[in-house]
Order: sequence, then structure tokens, then C-alpha cells
Amino acid sequence: MSTKSAAQWLVGHNRFEQEKTDSSDKKNFGRAKTISITSGKGGVGKTSVTIKLAKLLADKGFKTLVIDCDYNLSNTAIKLGLPLTDNFYSLITAKKTFDECLVKHRGFYLLSGCNGSIDLFNESDGMEKFIIDILVSHEREFDYILLDSPAGIGKENLTINAYSDHRFVVVTPDRSSLTDSYSLMKILTTKYGVSENHLIVNKISSKKQYHRIIKTLGETVDKFLCSRLKVLGGLENQDISVDIFDRHLLDEENSALHRNFVKVVEMFSEENVGILPTISDHGQEVQLNVC
Ligand SMILES: Nc1ncnc2c1ncn2[C@@H]1O[C@H](COP(=O)(O)OP(=O)(O)OP(=O)(O)O)[C@@H](O)[C@H]1O
Ligand SMILES: [Mg+2]
Repeated sequence: MSTKSAAQWLVGHNRFEQEKTDSSDKKNFGRAKTISITSGKGGVGKTSVTIKLAKLLADKGFKTLVIDCDYNLSNTAIKLGLPLTDNFYSLITAKKTFDECLVKHRGFYLLSGCNGSIDLFNESDGMEKFIIDILVSHEREFDYILLDSPAGIGKENLTINAYSDHRFVVVTPDRSSLTDSYSLMKILTTKYGVSENHLIVNKISSKKQYHRIIKTLGETVDKFLCSRLKVLGGLENQDISVDIFDRHLLDEENSALHRNFVKVVEMFSEENVGILPTISDHGQEVQLNVC
């Protein structure tokens, strides 16, 4: 079987894609859009992207939940300056209800993970099923559920990525980030039948660099994977100290970075309107290899 036909076969037999097809009508009637913010390599900006997008969506009036899927190395609460809790562990052991475990902050809801909990570590087999159960049980209570994923190609992470309606793959100009995210998309496509991903390029230092990245990665996906890559935009590298970045990210609404994020959200909201075959300066959508 050729690579292309094998992938097509998998798409046709993939239960996640099948479920989504079957439930596409249902989705229009009050089911949250689930988005995994994911990457092959760590430290590329997934958590930063997740909390900024959550705030922008909340500001637009959407009821938005963030789940920290890096559930025992949780960073979301830290970035938001919230106290660390054992809520995730309390939820899996049914010591607290889902509602008791949520924190509302900056207009959105957060289910924070734990930080090096031994108890959670001992119980963590099959955690992807637990997270998917949360999605299934609560998808009608939110407009958007953002999943701040751990980096890498662990099966747990890939299963959650594949289950999500959308995957925002975050890359940086670093070559290893591009290679690792390509590997992530390759496995998602060939083993899980995922046929579409979105791309966000973070920490860019010039437009030229950004265009080179989307062209190179786009052409590689186009040539070797039977999947579609939709470019949501680029986020400028901020030359500020790391300790003030998080505050700048959420509070500074007069920055290039904020405008970059607004365009990403607009691009995603408008994407069903039409697919442009060309690459423009911003808000571009590159349709690549619709198999
Ligand atoms: N556009 C940017 N400009 C400058 N620094 C950034 C930018 N985006 C993120 N950072 C910084 O990069 C670092 C990693 O960001 P973040 O924690 O969001 O990445 P991550 O992908 O979630 O990491 P991990 O894989 O460990 O979960 C942080 O110090 C953050 O402040
Ligand atoms: Mg993170």
C-alpha cells in the first residue's frame, strides 16, 4: 500500500475523525470547539499562546476553559500568578467536583494541573482517557476548550491532540522545533488519521524569516504528508526579560504581540469563509495538499 493510500485508509477508519464526522451537526448545537495547543519541542510558547488566546476569546464573550494537560508539570497557574493547587488530583480521586476544581481568572476558566505530585504520578496511567472524559462531560458548558498540551510525541499527548477538533501546532524558527513538530504531525496523520493542523510561528524576528518557515514547513507537509496545514500567523519575539513577559503578554494591549494574537484569532474565526491559495503578509491561510 502506498503512503498516500495507507493514510487515506487510516483516515477512513479512524474513530476520532469518524466521531467528528458523525457529530458535525451536533457540534453546531452548543458543543464547545476543542483546540489542542501543541508542539514537538518544548519551550516554544504553548502555554503563553494558550492563556493569551483564552483571554482574547473570553474578552469576545466566549465562555472559555483552559485545561492544563501537562497535568503534573503545570505551568498555566504559575504564568497567571495563581496559587498552585492539587485540584487535578482531587478531581481524579473524586474528592472535589469539576466545578470546585475550576478557577475563574481574567474572564476564562482554568483547570490547573499539579506540580510533581507523587500521588498523581502513581495514578497517572490512562490520563488521556480521563481528560477526554472531561471534554465529553463538559463540552456543552463552554464555547471553547483549550488544551495546553505537553510537548512531544507521547501516546497520551497524541491521543488528546487527535481527539481535539483542532490542533494549533506552535513552532519557533529553531530548526529542531520545526523538525519535531513535523514529526508530531506525521504521526498524527499516519497513525491517528488527523487530516488538518493549524500552524502558529512564535518568536519570529523578521517577516522574511516567517515566510521562509511557513514555505519550508508547508512544502514539506504538502510533499510528504496527506494532511492540510493552515497557517494562522506569526508572533514576534519579544526582547524583554522573561520575568516581565507574562505580564506583558496579558496586560499590554498596545503591543505588536497583542496585534499578532488578535490576527490569529481573526484568522481562525474567519477560516471557514474561504481558503486562499496565496501567501500574504499576515492572516494568511495556505492550503496544502488536500488529499
Ligand atoms: N513571542 C515571545 N517572545 C519572547 N519570549 C517568549 C515568546 N513566547 C514565549 N516566550 C517565552 O518562552 C518561554 C517558554 O514559553 P512557554 O512556557 O509558553 O512555552 P511552552 O511551549 O509552554 O513550554 P513547555 O513545553 O515547557 O510547556 C517562556 O519563558 C516565555 O516567556
Ligand atoms: Mg507549557
